Amino acid sequence: METTNANQKYNFEVVRWFSVAACIYFVVGTLLGVYIAAELAWPFLNFDIAEISFGRLRPLHTNAVIFAFGGCVLMATGFYSVQRTCGVKLWSDKLAWFTFGGWNLIIVSAVITLPLGLTQGKEYAELEWPIDILIAVVWLSFSANFIMTIANRKSSHIYVSNWFFLGMMVMITYLHVVNSLAIPVELFKSYSIFSSVQDAMIQWWWGHNAVGFYLTAGFLGIMYYFVPKQAERPIFSYRLSVIHFWALMFGYVWLGAHHLQYTALPDWTGSLGAAISLAMIIPSWGGAVNGMMTLSGAWDKLRTDYILRFMIMSLAFYVMSTFEGPVMSLKTVNALSHYTDWTIGHVHSGALGWVGMVAAGALYHLVQKLWNREMYSVQLVNLHFWMATIGIVIYIVAMWISGIMQGLMWRDYDEFGTLTYTFAESVAAMHPYYVMRTVGGFIYFAGTVVMLYNVVMTIMGASKERSTQTAHAQA
Ligand code: HEM
Ligand code: HEM
Repeated sequence: METTNANQKYNFEVVRWFSVAACIYFVVGTLLGVYIAAELAWPFLNFDIAEISFGRLRPLHTNAVIFAFGGCVLMATGFYSVQRTCGVKLWSDKLAWFTFGGWNLIIVSAVITLPLGLTQGKEYAELEWPIDILIAVVWLSFSANFIMTIANRKSSHIYVSNWFFLGMMVMITYLHVVNSLAIPVELFKSYSIFSSVQDAMIQWWWGHNAVGFYLTAGFLGIMYYFVPKQAERPIFSYRLSVIHFWALMFGYVWLGAHHLQYTALPDWTGSLGAAISLAMIIPSWGGAVNGMMTLSGAWDKLRTDYILRFMIMSLAFYVMSTFEGPVMSLKTVNALSHYTDWTIGHVHSGALGWVGMVAAGALYHLVQKLWNREMYSVQLVNLHFWMATIGIVIYIVAMWISGIMQGLMWRDYDEFGTLTYTFAESVAAMHPYYVMRTVGGFIYFAGTVVMLYNVVMTIMGASKERSTQTAHAQA
């Protein structure tokens, strides 16, 4: 009943569309991941077709998972939680639909341009200048609607999840605009206004903060709203969440240089990046503990509530990746890990474990609320949980072994001072782990298909129920 009233009071239609789009993009993005993983294991899968070669599909994968899947999750959960926490409808319905249409147009543009090789060659900022402008406009439309909804709020204070979303919006606008500054020479060709070492620095200032503010702060906004909701308990410590927020906002912006250790960048920038990276363990773990301890006194819920399991497992991966990252930022460790699959393992423990699982938990919660019914199959939610968990473990273990092995093989000298292994030998040694990663990735991907099926069946059940009710009412 509460949800039916809420459906009338708020604009949930746009949230529904974003939620369904997110589930579809989860399947597509991870499928692309499995395909490029398979291409690395069996290169014949490139079929000598430029458009589907590893180099073209890799950015399509990263754009699909980060911007298509991640973006739709952030917009669905952001638009939902801001309305619920502020007790008011979205400021502008029209603008919300513009955001939905515009964001999907950007995704379609990426699907066309990236396989054609139209790219700026900057990681996570590959799209060419006209699309960059569209990204800025659509992102601002999302942010403006969010901010104005908060301005119209009925409650006196602004709940902490909104702070995290706001932090993400401000920082991503600023980072995206500065990193994308370029001089266009043709419709789909431009040159960055930065050059050489400045270009690298700006790129990784953006690159790390895409992780810090988009994949972390934004998804922490999700965590702070959906974990207490699903657990039906208030957040463990509101004070800790505020400290978590300010520490992340002030800390993350200094870290970019840890991606550029041992390069032409001044040495002190790398040391600063490493020092602040280490310091970030404290707020990150504080935030994770805050989420987990929300369950204190109600841990038994984890036995039966599979959606909550997704959320708590995501926090465990958040703890893991925010320990691994700072360790990798140390110069001595980075000397081994950089350029190897260890980085890829770290990326995916954060991306599959933290981002993917908290998103899945929030989406399941949302689908039940938005369509006002239980999931079609709770057992399928459980199956998805185990497929995701097993898939991630296989993926990251394969990458740890392969990465550390690569690093050690590349630096190994014999008694004459020459390299012990050729590069080709290290590639051959990685093959079994690339196969293993493909298997782990496939299991994770199959879990997303189970999720999509479950969501579609839930929605279809809800619409069937509605039409039966209408028929009864008319009879
Ligand atoms: C079935 C699941 C997935 C598989 C099999 C997969 C596979 C891959 C592969 C093979 C690469 C290229 C690695 C290389 O260049 O050596 C990659 C890169 C990447 N993937 Fe995934 N992926 C999956 C899901 C995801 C998800 C859900 C996210 C984000 C939410 C993600 C984010 C990334 C990022 C950021 C990179 C670039 C990493 C870097 O440059 O260091 N992936 N993925
Ligand atoms: C305190 C937290 C974290 C720190 C200090 C950190 C640090 C690092 C370091 C040192 C690297 C390797 C840089 C290199 O050698 O090139 C890295 C790579 C990366 N990390 Fe993290 N990490 C953290 C958390 C996370 C989380 C939670 C995620 C995912 C949601 C993530 C995603 C990535 C990605 C995508 C890359 C690869 C970038 C690229 O080369 O393309 N990190 N991180």
